[in-house]
Amino acid sequence: MKKYEIGLIGLSVMGQNLALNIARNHSIAVYNRTESKTRAFMKDKVKNQDLKAAYELEDFVASLEKPRKIMLMIKAGKPVDLVIDSLLPYLEAGDIIIDGGNSHFDDTNRRLNNLKEKDIRYLGVGISGGEYGALHGPSIMPGGNEEAYAEVSEIMEDAAARTEKGACVSYLGPNSAGHYVKMVHNGIEYGIMEVLAEIYDYMRKVLQLKPEEMGDIFAEWNQEFDSYLVEITAKIMKKDDPKTGRKLIDLILDKAKHKGTGKWSVQSALDLGTAIPTINAGVNARLMSAIKSERVENAAQFADDTRAVVSKDEMLPVLKSALYFASVIAYTEGFKLLKTASEEYNYQLNYKEIARIWEDGCIIRSGLLEPIQAAFADDMQLKTLITAHQFKAQLNAAAEEIEKIITTAAQSGLPLTAVHSALDYFNSLKSEELPANLIQAQRDFFGAHTYQRRDEDGIFHTEWE
Ligand code: 6PG
Repeated sequence: MKKYEIGLIGLSVMGQNLALNIARNHSIAVYNRTESKTRAFMKDKVKNQDLKAAYELEDFVASLEKPRKIMLMIKAGKPVDLVIDSLLPYLEAGDIIIDGGNSHFDDTNRRLNNLKEKDIRYLGVGISGGEYGALHGPSIMPGGNEEAYAEVSEIMEDAAARTEKGACVSYLGPNSAGHYVKMVHNGIEYGIMEVLAEIYDYMRKVLQLKPEEMGDIFAEWNQEFDSYLVEITAKIMKKDDPKTGRKLIDLILDKAKHKGTGKWSVQSALDLGTAIPTINAGVNARLMSAIKSERVENAAQFADDTRAVVSKDEMLPVLKSALYFASVIAYTEGFKLLKTASEEYNYQLNYKEIARIWEDGCIIRSGLLEPIQAAFADDMQLKTLITAHQFKAQLNAAAEEIEKIITTAAQSGLPLTAVHSALDYFNSLKSEELPANLIQAQRDFFGAHTYQRRDEDGIFHTEWE
């Protein structure tokens, strides 16, 4: 019986597209729990590829070369455990399971350790790029058993997006390193998406621009930014609704969902004691958006259409600076979180390499990843991107301008949380003096929590009254 190089379980659109992508260069067997989905896939999508459909799990496993390499493209959470449990009776020592979903890094650590006891090797692999990326070349973020990675690296490299620097995939580190990096990728994604949403909000409500014009502006800016998220924002602005002929963006409800990776980034950052306020703003904004009916009720009580009067010609360049500034800060927060996590979890992350594999295929690909790589090439131990010469002067200049947007947005009753958070993050990080002396004093006042002094070493307590 012919043996296939790799197997893939889970034929959602991502799984289907990744299977078709892999099948361009390698033989692959696929399996899906619901048989009808597999049959539809084979009938509609598979043409002459070296791709076998299996309809029984046992047959699927038996059709794979040893050691078996099995990629899971299934919903993160319980389903991953269930599929692993159902596979185990058919696996042998040395086989490799690759989880390509957005699994929580704690789950990946747990699965990896449990499977180690059974001599099954495990890789937690972040895959970014949506449906298009899965088919044409995603950015792939593998972590876990390094020897196992060596055995699948060729398949991953052939499937990944490619720049002149190579394939957008690289072994990132042990245990859950891959899924951690993907989680932070998504955190940055949340931050930049919210920054774009806020700039759009300012353009439509304060500058009174129409989607068509905003589309032109985002497209023009993107000649410089070369950012996928800016590119799609420009395209979204231009899209007509076939039903009504109106702009589709005006008809879409302002209520955004989320599946967890942004929230996990914030939770992990809090656990590790690192602030990521711009990313957090992206998560919070989705939560605020979700309570639409409550917002509508409240709005009726606060009806106020005061809008700051500003000049479009003056503000557009400032909005562009804000987009640059807050995007750089979202990456800055993300890389700082990665550094903290790498030290805590011993991932030994290579930040320059992470920026390189994000340069194509993934959702946060942008022109900023080039100077980010340069900054880490200059100093691998860089504490923060804000001090890198690639960014320092530009951030300073942009920070001065952004004030105008923040003031006029506030005058217009417009929330601008991500842009504002980015500015506050920058200002905090470059402040020699923060008011935490007062926080120390307050804690000592009401709880005898003690404090440290500037003029003397040691721990002190004062009877304040
Ligand atoms: C990607 C995306 C992808 C997915 C996220 C978004 O990198 O391709 O990030 O993984 O779109 O899960 O998740 P939310 O539903 O939380 O926005």
